[in-house]
Amino acid sequence: MKLIIRVFERTENAGQAGAMLIGGQMIRKPDSIFGLATGSTPVTTYKQLIKMTDDKLLDWNRVTTFNLDEYVGLPGDHEQSYKTFMKAKLFDFVNIRPEAIHIPDGMAEDPGAECMAYERKIREAGGIDLQLLGIGRNGHIGFNEPSDVFKTLTHCVDLSDDTIEANARFFSQPSRVPRQAISMGVGTIMKAWQIVLIATGSDKARAVAAMVQGPIDPQCPASILQTHPRVTVLLDRAASVALSR
Ligand code: GLP
Repeated sequence: MKLIIRVFERTENAGQAGAMLIGGQMIRKPDSIFGLATGSTPVTTYKQLIKMTDDKLLDWNRVTTFNLDEYVGLPGDHEQSYKTFMKAKLFDFVNIRPEAIHIPDGMAEDPGAECMAYERKIREAGGIDLQLLGIGRNGHIGFNEPSDVFKTLTHCVDLSDDTIEANARFFSQPSRVPRQAISMGVGTIMKAWQIVLIATGSDKARAVAAMVQGPIDPQCPASILQTHPRVTVLLDRAASVALSR
């Protein structure tokens, strides 16, 4: 199945288009289940969703969300936890019910059991209608790092050096970046009915080309998306430059 790819001249339009797809899903199905992402990429999408909510276009009252991942060892109220990020960038500004928000617990005593429980919660909720994704410079989705095999279910991950380096900008010292995370697996992501992946900036160009035009290879985890029937890839010009026409 061919990925749908849209390239926008203005970087913010890629993120705003993501908000339009999420908003459209919410209007069609008010009790939608969304898979959400962190990182700098979806910030524009979340801003736009907040605006659409302020404009009374969107109602989050019946929405449920599952975040892709969380760092292991950071309490939810740590300033760099993904829980804090989601509150600051989206949840504090929309009328989502707190009990409808799901983020893996990075402080769980038994991370393995937390992974299994998270996977079960997604299944019991009825599965994800729309999964929002960014992409790492090395082709990771969620925290599914390049590997010899596709890790299918929610699992504990050792972060790659490249990811630790890329995420160090958010921490006061590189040594403070957690070394592990809990992440939905590639299989969890692939079960979503629809996927929207946003990538902007030149440092994503190689990963985008490998995802779209490379072989399906766990060394580029995002390449598995080529086999999903409903994926929309939203790019700015810089992220699209390595794609061959
Ligand atoms: C993190 C997240 C991913 C995200 C990626 C890219 O490692 N776990 O979900 O897609 O980084 O982040 P950014 O959007 O900041 O480039």
